[in-house]
Amino acid sequence: MNNNNHDIFITDTGETYSASPEDTLLKGMERLGRKGIPVGCRGGGCGVCKVRILSGQVRKGRMSRDKLSEEEEAAGCVLACRVWAESDVTLAVIGQMGKAVRRKNVAS
Ligand code: FES
Repeated sequence: MNNNNHDIFITDTGETYSASPEDTLLKGMERLGRKGIPVGCRGGGCGVCKVRILSGQVRKGRMSRDKLSEEEEAAGCVLACRVWAESDVTLAVIGQMGKAVRRKNVAS
């Protein structure tokens, strides 16, 4: 933890987690310990970690165009394993990861 950390707010669950500048958004989400978060390639190639950035600044790494179309990217979608927060971020989980993240709400 350091002062450069950013708060990442997940609209689907109302949770906030802290991400250091070195951690991808996916890494921080994994740390929440949500059971069933599908961890795929972690390299921008499988598409399971797709999220939509609703607000905030992010830095993007290489992402497979097969898994993230130009239309999706234009709409704010990114692959969380290849994105780093540069400010506080609000995101929504979509696709396969959404089910795992929301599962907690069903159980509680
Ligand atoms: S884990 Fe495969 S694209 Fe993110």
